[in-house]
Amino acid sequence: MTLSLNQDMTAAEIETWLVETSPDKILLLLRHADNTRRHYVGDAVWFRGLVELSNYCRRNCLYCGVRAARRIERYRMTRDEILESAQKAHEWNFGTLVMQAGEDSALDEEFVADLIVEIKERFELAITLSLGERTEHEWARWKEAGADRYLLRFETSNRQLFHAIHPPAPNSSPQDRVALLRRLRDLGYEVGSGVMIGIPGQSFSDLAQDLALFRELDLDMIGCGPFLPHSSTPLGRVELIDGLLHSQEANGLNVRSKVDRFCFPAAERQVPNDLATTFKVLALSRIILPNANIPSTTAIATLDGQKGRQSGLECGGNVIMPNLTPMKYRKLYEIYPNKSGTGESAETTVATALKQIGEIGRFQGVGSGSSPRFLERNGSNRKTER
Ligand code: 5AD
Repeated sequence: MTLSLNQDMTAAEIETWLVETSPDKILLLLRHADNTRRHYVGDAVWFRGLVELSNYCRRNCLYCGVRAARRIERYRMTRDEILESAQKAHEWNFGTLVMQAGEDSALDEEFVADLIVEIKERFELAITLSLGERTEHEWARWKEAGADRYLLRFETSNRQLFHAIHPPAPNSSPQDRVALLRRLRDLGYEVGSGVMIGIPGQSFSDLAQDLALFRELDLDMIGCGPFLPHSSTPLGRVELIDGLLHSQEANGLNVRSKVDRFCFPAAERQVPNDLATTFKVLALSRIILPNANIPSTTAIATLDGQKGRQSGLECGGNVIMPNLTPMKYRKLYEIYPNKSGTGESAETTVATALKQIGEIGRFQGVGSGSSPRFLERNGSNRKTER
C-alpha cells in the first residue's frame, strides 16, 4: 500500500510517517516537502532579527532555563538597546523584528505599545511579538500600535502533558493555548505556533495530533524544534532508559510522579528529541500547510552546528531567525544549554547565514515576508513578496 502524502492526510497517516524508518521513504518525504516549499513559497529565505528583551519570567515551565524558580542573573533591555537592535535589523534588510521575552510584567502594555510605535515610525520593519500569555487588552493594544504577528507555541496538543509541564502563572487559572491562538487570529495578528519534539512523555500519536492541530488552526507560521534538556530544570533531569522514563527530585518538585502519569500503553513510544524526527515534523508541516512560513529554528542549529540550519531549510523551512540580542545578555537567555549563536556577534551570525543559504541555492528575501497563507486568507493577490 502506498502511503498518502498530501494536505489532507489523516492523523493516523501522519503518525505512520513519523515512525517510518525506511531511508528511501524518509528521503521521499523530505524531497516532497522541499518541492512543495519551492512551489508554494519559492527560494527566498526570510531573515527575522530576534531580540530577547528580557529573561524575567513569572512562569515555572518544567523544561525552561529561564523559569522563575531559577536563581539566575536577570536582565531587561533598555528602550535604547532595543531600538539599536531594530536599527541593525533595518540596516541588514531583515524586514522583520521579533521581540521575544519571558512573561515579564515590567514589559507592560504602555512600554511595549510605545516601542512598537517608535520602531514603526523609524524603520520599515514588520513586528513579531513573542511575549507569552498576556491579557486580551494588551494584545489588542499592541495590534493597534502596529504589531503584525504573534508567536505562541502550544508546545504539545496532549492537554495532560501540557498542564503537567506548564504550571499556571501565580494567582491564575490554567490557560487553553488553543483558545488563546484563536483570539490572536480574531485580533488580526498573523499567528504562529509550534511544538517541542521529544518532550518526556510525548508519544508519536501526540505528535501526529500536534500536526493535525496546526492544520485545524490554519497557522500562518509554524516553529518547531527538538526538546533540549536543561540540567537545571526538572524536565532536564528526566532520562529515558530502556524506553522508560526515569527522573530525580528537582527543585522540590516530584517530577517522577508528574512524568509517570504519562507512561504509555505498550504500543506507544516516547518520541526521541533528535534531528531525524524534527526534520520529519518540518517536512510534514510544509506538506500540510504548504504556504505557511516555517523557520529552521535555533534549536535545530544547536543540535547540529554544521549543517542543521541548512538541512532545516531543505526539508520545508523558508525562514531563519538570527539573534540580534546584545552580546552581554546572550548567555543569560539560556532557555536550553549551548544555544546556537550564543558566543558569536550578530555580524558573524548573519555572514554565516548568508553563506549557508547561498551554498544551497537560496537567497535572502527582501520585504516584510508576511506569511503567504496570511495574505491569501486576507484576500491579498500577492502570491509571495520577493
Ligand atoms: N528545549 C527546547 N526548546 C525550548 N523552549 C523552551 N525551553 C526549551 C528547551 N529546554 C522553546 C519553547 C518556547 C520557545 C520560546 O522556546 O518551545 O515556546
